[in-house]
Amino acid sequence: MPTPKLSSSMFIGMSGKDIISFGSGQPDLPPPKRVFKAFSRFKNFKYGLIQGNLNLREALAEKYPKSTSDNFVVTNGASEALDLTLRVISKIGGKAKNKVLLSRPYYYTYPYLVKFAGMEPVYTDSIKGRINFDDFKKKIKDCKAVIINSPSNPTGRVESIDTLKKIEKLTSDLGIYVLSDEVYKDLIYVRENYFIKGPHVITVDSFSKTYDMCGLRIGYLWSLDRELINKITDMKAHTSMNTNILAQEMAYEATKTPRSFIDKQLKIWEERRDFIYNGLSDMGLDLWKPEGAFYVLPKIKNSEDFVWNMFKKYKVITYPGEWFGVKDRVRFSYALDIDKIKEGLERVKKHLKSIKVG
Ligand SMILES: Cc1ncc(COP(=O)(O)O)c(C=O)c1O
Repeated sequence: MPTPKLSSSMFIGMSGKDIISFGSGQPDLPPPKRVFKAFSRFKNFKYGLIQGNLNLREALAEKYPKSTSDNFVVTNGASEALDLTLRVISKIGGKAKNKVLLSRPYYYTYPYLVKFAGMEPVYTDSIKGRINFDDFKKKIKDCKAVIINSPSNPTGRVESIDTLKKIEKLTSDLGIYVLSDEVYKDLIYVRENYFIKGPHVITVDSFSKTYDMCGLRIGYLWSLDRELINKITDMKAHTSMNTNILAQEMAYEATKTPRSFIDKQLKIWEERRDFIYNGLSDMGLDLWKPEGAFYVLPKIKNSEDFVWNMFKKYKVITYPGEWFGVKDRVRFSYALDIDKIKEGLERVKKHLKSIKVG
């Protein structure tokens, strides 16, 4: 059977007997125990504040420089934060320069969100998974905004602090919005996170990855630009309204979890990272060693055929690089336990033996 057109909705959330999924980027680890405390004290199911519960925003403000609760909007995951921000930005300063720069390979939702906001994505191709600053510098001049995602989904790369500082300076000089998608900021294996700062920076974060709370749909955005925060809050008032209030209480508890929770989980992620990286390298595949997040993106020719065959013949889910803007690569998420990774890699090995890989 020829390979059909593959779409993300075919695989997201799919599970079943004997299926090994390297597909979805959702952690399989448990959330902090204390988030369940929120249930017992919760008696109020009225609408909440559009901008987000005050206790959660105050707790977040303790973690961000020069901030109060007014610098945040709590959203339905990082996804809504990105969506609202792009739609609001698209209306600022007229339609001129309604372009958004994306580093390719990109998180597959970015081009859709940019287009839904009536803007045009512009691409800069990375060098070995990291931003090519010379090309970035040329293309950013025509853009209204840029999305930075370090650590990156799907490359697992972490940008150098030098590059991030250069981006900070250039965008600040040119008055360009930076959406810094930091949903993997706590899952870095090589250094501390570098927090991008500036008057036009909007940081987007989430409880999905750090605290294993994807399905609760809870994230937030932060900015020093209070006018922008107000516009985003206004748009939220006329779209989704408040974010789930119970999820916000659970997120509040998560902010009170000691750092040791994250450190313990990071060790587990690192062990998995090493296992899958070594396993795929030993098969002769060309791939970057992830420095953060939980994805690898090896080079594999005819990636759509590979993904389809792995699914149909071996019950292994992977995602084709094409979804992330790069042909001839395949994304593996390693958000599953080592035994499953091991079994999945055995199946990949079997398949690779039967085809020619380049
Ligand atoms: C880079 C990136 N940004 C945003 C999201 C969306 O996160 P959330 O679950 O908080 O909506 C994801 C989810 O995989 C992601 O990988």
